[in-house]
Amino acid sequence: MKTNEITTENIKKGQAVYSKLLLHIYDFYVLKLSNTYFWKCRSKNILDMFLKNTSSNHLDAGVGTGYFLKKQSLAKNTRLVLMDLNANSLHSCNNALKNISPQLMVHNVLDPISISIDKFDSISINYLLHCLPGTLPQKTILFKHFTEKLNPGGVLFGSTILNTANQGNYFAKKLMKIYNRKGIFSNHHDSYEAFESIIASKYTDYKLEVIGHVCLFEIRTNS
Ligand SMILES: C[S@@+](CC[C@H](N)C(=O)[O-])C[C@H]1O[C@@H](n2cnc3c(N)ncnc32)[C@H](O)[C@@H]1O
Repeated sequence: MKTNEITTENIKKGQAVYSKLLLHIYDFYVLKLSNTYFWKCRSKNILDMFLKNTSSNHLDAGVGTGYFLKKQSLAKNTRLVLMDLNANSLHSCNNALKNISPQLMVHNVLDPISISIDKFDSISINYLLHCLPGTLPQKTILFKHFTEKLNPGGVLFGSTILNTANQGNYFAKKLMKIYNRKGIFSNHHDSYEAFESIIASKYTDYKLEVIGHVCLFEIRTNS
């Protein structure tokens, strides 16, 4: 299967599926069913990473329903910025977290963040990379965009579904094929080895962990 090129059309495909209806069932379908049975990484593992790393000065990009943020008791005065290309996702996440009045940003994460914005102590990009078109070296440009917006000692964290899901169970293989064909995922060539080599070439303080077909990552900037 060919890698999806980075075109406006393919970028749209990576976020277009997040309709109000899909977001309604997202927590159950993706975070409970798919994570447990197809991608073999229970959402509890990802939640633990959020609980460990989310600060009171946080940016979440590729927000979905905001599941991992709404599972935390974030203080009312938390500075929270929600970034997504899809207005449905932003509304869904905003509704779930409106007690802390997040700031909303419509933005394609493959583009540099050119507006002037105060830096963050933590940034999450969960289940976003596998939705983005392009080769791994092309789409991991978002690591540069986000680490540039971190304060010293800050952390960029998240997780992504690897191409090993192609060798997973019947449903994992089937879904990988359909999602990649439709451009919902573009992770057919996202191997752990390639990902690790890119991260290792750019950062010194990082942690990667593979659970099932999912790679969890944490990257820290120097204090
Ligand atoms: C699979 S969901 C992940 C939701 C959430 N982070 C989670 O882990 O449950 C991917 C999210 O990324 C957004 N997204 C996809 N492509 C994007 C892009 N190029 N720029 C910004 N957001 C994008 C989608 O709209 C969607 O909200």
